[in-house]
Amino acid sequence: MKRLHFNLITLACVTLFGCENPDGIADDAQTRDYSTIFTPLPSKTIYPSNNPYSETKERLGELLFWDPILSGDKDTSCASCHHPDFGWADGRILSIGSDGIGLGPQRYGFQVTSIHAPTIMNVAYTGIKNNESDSSFVSGGYFWDLRADTLEEQSLGPIKNPVEMLGYNNNEKEIMADIVERLRLIPEYVTLFEQAFGVTEAVSSENIVKAIATFERKITSPNTRFDRFLSGEQSIFTQQEIIGLNKFIDGGCARCHLGPMLSDNILHLGEAIIGTDIVRTPSLRNISYTAPYMHDGSRARLIDAIADYENRGDLDVTIGEDDFADIEAFLQTVNTDDFYKGIPTIVPSGLTVGGNIN
Ligand code: HEC
Ligand code: HEC
Repeated sequence: MKRLHFNLITLACVTLFGCENPDGIADDAQTRDYSTIFTPLPSKTIYPSNNPYSETKERLGELLFWDPILSGDKDTSCASCHHPDFGWADGRILSIGSDGIGLGPQRYGFQVTSIHAPTIMNVAYTGIKNNESDSSFVSGGYFWDLRADTLEEQSLGPIKNPVEMLGYNNNEKEIMADIVERLRLIPEYVTLFEQAFGVTEAVSSENIVKAIATFERKITSPNTRFDRFLSGEQSIFTQQEIIGLNKFIDGGCARCHLGPMLSDNILHLGEAIIGTDIVRTPSLRNISYTAPYMHDGSRARLIDAIADYENRGDLDVTIGEDDFADIEAFLQTVNTDDFYKGIPTIVPSGLTVGGNIN
């Protein structure tokens, strides 16, 4: 009873007065002004002016994303490693590409990537800053080392990589011309490209990547409980979630994990989190759907990734074991199950949807 009484007082304190303890130190469970650190993710995708949205383009991109015709040996698709069942990642430590069979942790084969596959959820917003929501925003860069500036450019990476989609029977320099030739022989694709780009002979390397990027921009996860909290519905957070959020900020996490994506999307030179590799800060949106974690996929559970930050004064981070569960509770609020999970039933090439993933 005494405990309940205390909680009610704290709650009233938090929701009504935002008060401080008698000694003037902010209460742990106190909400504050977070708007300089985080703002909500825009709820509608921003498309770049050089690749505007159209419904047909998005649909075409979706079919290309799932069609193994884009791989050298016609056995692998983007969805082999970015699948809705695994939060649009693959649920694996490292990915298996061009000779692989199966999906997710069950997938087997010899062509293994050197780095863990991130999700493509919210890639439309990669690099976005607080309150940036108009057409002047340009997303990027991409990959763990930021080597691709745009989403359009990014998709050429896996297509030209022997481990991922190219295979070893094909040539990196010729593959795009080969794919264009393959697609031109399929009437459904010819029609879709013409409709999507409004010109005849629209099947081209440039338009392939534009369509894929347009589809990827569809897959977002805004309107989480965190976004609602930031938009003023502060009462939807539990005390533990507020405590976790405050620890996340005061513990130093938000130095790098800030903004609508909870990421500054920059490389932290001299501040490697795991091992010695220098990688960019990943987004923490919908993190519960994209295990395992870190660029080497070495952390199986979210709490393991959080625990990596204990005793990391070198990163100006001050969290201890007592903080892990609160921070995890807060990070769960940045999740939503409400993201696109569609899978086409057929692809225009007539090949197996998604490649050898069954
Ligand atoms: C064999 C598995 C595999 C396949 C197939 C694959 N990817 Fe990936 N994807 C990865 C891996 C691994 C990375 C990280 C590579 C890196 O950062 O160097 C990645 C990174 C990405 C990123 C960057 C995300 C970010 O946050 O920076 C995007 C976008 C992406 N892939 C889209 C695609 C598209 C589109 C296709 C099909 C054209 C595709 N992928 C095919 C494994 C795969
Ligand atoms: C100096 C910048 C920086 C700070 C400070 C920082 N992080 Fe990170 N965070 C990163 C980078 C960079 C990675 C990727 C590291 C890797 O893959 O090796 C990462 C990865 C993560 C991941 C895994 C994400 C994924 O999808 O794999 C989690 C979870 C995480 N950080 C949480 C936190 C928490 C909690 C704190 C505070 C205790 C924190 N970070 C502080 C930069 C930072």
